[in-house]
Amino acid sequence: MSMSSPHQIAVRTPTENYDIHVGQDVLVPFGQHLAELLPGRKAFVVSHPTLLDLYGPTVTGALQQAGFTTETYAVPEGETSKNLQTAADLYTHLATCGADRRSVLCAFGGGVVGDLTGFAAATYMRGIPFVQIPTTLLAMVDSSIGGKTGVNHELGKNMIGSFYPPRAVCTDIALLRSLPEREYLCGLSEIVKAGVIDDTELFTLMERETEAIRQRDEAVLTTLIERAIAVKVRVVEEDPTEQGVRAILNFGHTIGHALEAVTAYEQYSHGEAVAIGMALVAKLSEMLGLCEPEARNRLFSLLEGLGLPVAYADIDTQRLIEVMAHDKKAIDGVVQFILMRDIGSVVYRQQVPTDVLESLLVEYA
Ligand SMILES: NC(=O)c1ccc[n+]([C@@H]2O[C@H](COP(=O)([O-])OP(=O)(O)OC[C@H]3O[C@@H](n4cnc5c(N)ncnc54)[C@H](O)[C@@H]3O)[C@@H](O)[C@H]2O)c1
Ligand SMILES: [Zn+2]
Repeated sequence: MSMSSPHQIAVRTPTENYDIHVGQDVLVPFGQHLAELLPGRKAFVVSHPTLLDLYGPTVTGALQQAGFTTETYAVPEGETSKNLQTAADLYTHLATCGADRRSVLCAFGGGVVGDLTGFAAATYMRGIPFVQIPTTLLAMVDSSIGGKTGVNHELGKNMIGSFYPPRAVCTDIALLRSLPEREYLCGLSEIVKAGVIDDTELFTLMERETEAIRQRDEAVLTTLIERAIAVKVRVVEEDPTEQGVRAILNFGHTIGHALEAVTAYEQYSHGEAVAIGMALVAKLSEMLGLCEPEARNRLFSLLEGLGLPVAYADIDTQRLIEVMAHDKKAIDGVVQFILMRDIGSVVYRQQVPTDVLESLLVEYA
């Protein structure tokens, strides 16, 4: 990873080569950048109805100013849009409107739009150019980076997909002003994660600026987002195909995913489930003598200060353990954890004895 200019973060792996443009009101210069990068002049913007109401003219205007003709396509909001049928409808739209291999697909939305659009771009005519314009905090710091695209199948989340890198990413902080509070918190949870796994300074900054973060201070947010992106880029560059160290991005997610599953994805947002997961893993790490109580305390305080939960209620512990044992990252039924050594340092592929896990969860139930 390198900072090619104050607001561009370069991603370079054997199969990926693109820049992430970060800042306020960076859409117009981004349009110009695309015009230089791509040979074609047809852009297809995939988004949601609400987002097109709010920002449609801003996005298409930026592209048109750079010489693109634009078409917009809205998919319904929510995880249920991330499926093969929605992708098939999108192919139909693309084919009907004459999209070819020189056209560019622009994902304008959160992770749902990003994953779906990336998947469509990867498969339509065996792959056409694709760019990400993330509009949620989670998409800015997480899902728009790393090249994973895909849709859900009735037998599993993200079951159908491929690694397909975008040609560029445009991260415009100004878009966050309209983001609902719960979605905002979701992204904050992933930024806390980035601090814990690889950036002590980012974590300290969040501790110091908690109030400004709650107020969505854009100067503070810009720094947080750039640092969180940098963490993900470093990890992805080190392990683009998820053979090893990339696992640390799942810190807090083993328990988090299980919590989401046992509550049928209704009780907790992803970020809330991950916050609880991180808190529990910190506690687990402390119980195993791997980290000091002080580090665990700092994590609890930061999460609570930001308005994120650190514990759950009314969950069947046995069910939770069962679901974890079936996690796709479990090996022979033994749950793999990313444990915390300190703020800014984690260890991965740690097997935790079931009785230790049980006593932790029972204490919490
Ligand atoms: N590809 C990856 O590496 C990766 C990583 C993490 C998560 N994901 C995926 O991301 C998805 C979740 O993404 P998400 O959390 O961004 O949720 P999301 O895409 O569902 O967006 C959340 C909601 O916020 C609204 N919204 C988005 N931006 C807005 C804005 N600026 N103003 C007002 N409203 C806005 C959207 O309309 C949507 O209803 C999941 O499907 C998950 O699997 C993928
Ligand atoms: Zn996550």
